[in-house]
Amino acid sequence: MKKLLLKNINQLATFKGKKAKHGKEMSDIYLLNDCCVLIEDEKIADIFPSQKLALYADKDVEIVDCSGKLVTAGYVDCHTHFVFAGDRSDEFNMRLNGIPYMEIMAKGGGIVKTVDATRKASEETLIKLSLSRIKKALSYGVTTLEAKSGYGLDTETELKQLRVANKLNNLQPVEVVSTFMGAHAVPKDFSSEKYINYLIDEMLPAVTKENLADFCDCFCEKGVFDAAQCKKILTAAKLYGLKPKIHAEEINRIGGADLACELGAISCEHLLKITDKDINRLGKSETIGVILPATAFSLKENYAPARKMIDADCALAVASDFNPGSCNTQSIPLIIALSNIYCNMTIAETLCALTINAACAIDRGGSRGTVEVGKNADLIIHNLSSLNELNYNFATNSVEKVIKKGKVVFEKDY
Ligand code: NIG
Ligand code: FE
Repeated sequence: MKKLLLKNINQLATFKGKKAKHGKEMSDIYLLNDCCVLIEDEKIADIFPSQKLALYADKDVEIVDCSGKLVTAGYVDCHTHFVFAGDRSDEFNMRLNGIPYMEIMAKGGGIVKTVDATRKASEETLIKLSLSRIKKALSYGVTTLEAKSGYGLDTETELKQLRVANKLNNLQPVEVVSTFMGAHAVPKDFSSEKYINYLIDEMLPAVTKENLADFCDCFCEKGVFDAAQCKKILTAAKLYGLKPKIHAEEINRIGGADLACELGAISCEHLLKITDKDINRLGKSETIGVILPATAFSLKENYAPARKMIDADCALAVASDFNPGSCNTQSIPLIIALSNIYCNMTIAETLCALTINAACAIDRGGSRGTVEVGKNADLIIHNLSSLNELNYNFATNSVEKVIKKGKVVFEKDY
């Protein structure tokens, strides 16, 4: 049996349990000083104080010295669109000149521009592009990440994107969890009604036949899909066994968060324009609110009211939303800084939102998101001595080593 021992950890910062933490529970952090973590095969086998290390005389163990270091669970990036081709740097600069995101989309840019490039790209090209992005995610401590489709908007390309996302699991260590997001935009030459029927009658059966996704997401937005249309799509998706997610209240408040609660969706995401009434309902539900502060930063929009949501007992996760349009960054350190400085979350709440709550937002809380005996050994060794330093040296990557399923899979080489 392969064993790995992290010895003399200065501080281990983790949450406990398998379920999403709501409201005040997001502060229930455990800070263990001077401890060791024993990993057997892919799982955490023991956590014990460093004083007991002398008793540990197992010779078959590979040792990683964590003296002076902070150790946390690996980050889970639970909302990304990282499988795509092409780039939209021109649009970023147009936005900086004052042209709004939705206006660029209405003029034929935006999502459909990436759709054109992704349709043209071969599976091999998409794999190559995705591998380099996933490598970057790993360097930021991401051990599991979500990949949404939605840059195909036809059966062939949606399947291509999802097949690529699934294949990545055999090509590198970071786990990829897939979400079918055919309802990302209405493609050219389709009315929304015609496209929704095509999505339900043809795409959904094809995606589920190959078992390519766990979730189905919809862009619930003015001029894209309204709440009634999202309800139709997600109700059909549920019948196929896909769990609903919704891009809700990003640019306009049109009822996506409310719908997420009504459908018992696993998550609703963005929430920049969420109302107090929606927040109260979300706080009483099991649906996780996923906030994406780097998107608000990139769009120069006001941030999601994270403080209000946590105070109303919501369970919040934080993710990158990495995509070629509204948010072209994978930087977890930037996201931590924005969560703390602009979303008024504490560093403990932020860690909760990036680990256990993010794992729950993609239904992986049972095996990931905390450092506990029995969970997968997905861990980050930070070049910091305690949790307080994680936001202090802001927007700076502190990741020194990453362990995925018990193996050291990333080591900083500088
Ligand atoms: O989450 N809002 C919809 N989807 C993405 C943006 C996609 C794009 O601009 O390509 C988002 O922001
Ligand atoms: Fe998104």
